[in-house]
Amino acid sequence: MNILVFYDERAMDSYVADLILQLIRKDPKAAIGFATGSTPQGVYQQLIQYYQDGVIDFSTVTAFSLDEYVGLPSHHPNSFQTAMHQALFDHINIKKENIHMLHGDALDMEQECIKYEKLLNEKQVCLQLLGIGMDGHIAYNEPGTSFQSSTHVVDLHSESRISSLGYGFEHLDEVPYQGVTQGIATIMNAKLLVMMAYGHQKAPLVKRMLEGEVTEKFPSSIIQKHPHVIVVLDQAAAKELEVPYETH
Ligand code: F6R
Repeated sequence: MNILVFYDERAMDSYVADLILQLIRKDPKAAIGFATGSTPQGVYQQLIQYYQDGVIDFSTVTAFSLDEYVGLPSHHPNSFQTAMHQALFDHINIKKENIHMLHGDALDMEQECIKYEKLLNEKQVCLQLLGIGMDGHIAYNEPGTSFQSSTHVVDLHSESRISSLGYGFEHLDEVPYQGVTQGIATIMNAKLLVMMAYGHQKAPLVKRMLEGEVTEKFPSSIIQKHPHVIVVLDQAAAKELEVPYETH
């Protein structure tokens, strides 16, 4: 596992955007897994900039998302689908048919999960971006989720629902109670995981994820078992770490 700690948040975003740029140059048909949430937003802005500068071409790239709320129409202003379009997809030349996102409003959620898992098996994700949730989740795999899990529907923990406030939801009772997510085994199938975290509030979580026991009680700890992981942190998120890391 490579742990990289950056002095500057923009340098952190550029590093990850450059990883994606290099991947696409090497393999224009690469499948990339994108995350929602606040953490990767700077990376997406940098990717849009690269696209506008003509240095990156997304026309043959395939995109997958990690998760979605269950019960919200896909085009709801607060859905993850809308968030990904607004943050990135609407601003680059990725083809609509190459964007694969979970539909939380599917009539048959079980079939939706099976269909998504099959697609992910057909096109292995080359690089999966990840963030860590305040309860240690990755995607919407909440504490207690099996490490063998595939794409599935989950009951969201209150911590995750509270984190959704500020993303368009004004009151907690508007936040859906369920999500649909790539499973932990699904995520582990990606060739490279890029885990990003910044800010003081993530520091104890980052420590537990990278130095703690690998346990289903703390889902993101599973990344310790992946053969190719790059962890990209700012100094605040790295401040409790005892394991060696590289500074940039
Ligand atoms: C989002 C996702 C979540 C977030 C995590 C961190 O698609 O899968 O696991 O990555 O909750 O969220 P932020 O970045 O908002 O701190």
